[in-house]
Amino acid sequence: MVKMTPFLLVLCLALVAHGFSAKKCVLTGRWVNDLGSNMTIGTVNRQGEFAGSYHTAVTSTTNKIRVSPLQGSQHRTNQKSQPTFGFTVNWSFSDSVTVFTGQCFVDETGKEVLKTMWLLRSRVDDIKDDWKATMVGINIFTRLHSQE
Ligand code: BTN
Repeated sequence: MVKMTPFLLVLCLALVAHGFSAKKCVLTGRWVNDLGSNMTIGTVNRQGEFAGSYHTAVTSTTNKIRVSPLQGSQHRTNQKSQPTFGFTVNWSFSDSVTVFTGQCFVDETGKEVLKTMWLLRSRVDDIKDDWKATMVGINIFTRLHSQE
């Protein structure tokens, strides 16, 4: 039989216990951000790709807000518990596109939180206006729980 020193035994037990206890942050589901925008992310496939929908609470235009599609990908090392990801929202009601990038964290209370940064590109008529066509910001998303 393989002999194990007490130290190695304790180390193995600690590693196994950590493996079981570490909560994974999962992108799939419904989320709300600090602006009150809602998004739904579908299943993340084996390649890390996902699709979903985004209902923004605000707009830089005067157009009527409509739910818009999003497409994204999670980093391929998705067995890690706090994955990085990115997604693009192709706005249905404006000529703009927003790209988000971020990381899915489990905070100290065990709550999942998406810390993101975004770039919102608006269309301008003239190349001379390019300098003012991109906005940057951050959004923090928390999970929306339905009837728990
Ligand atoms: C537009 O105004 O042309 C489209 C809507 C943009 C909404 C932006 S995207 C970044 C920020 N986060 C949100 O949830 N909404 C705004």
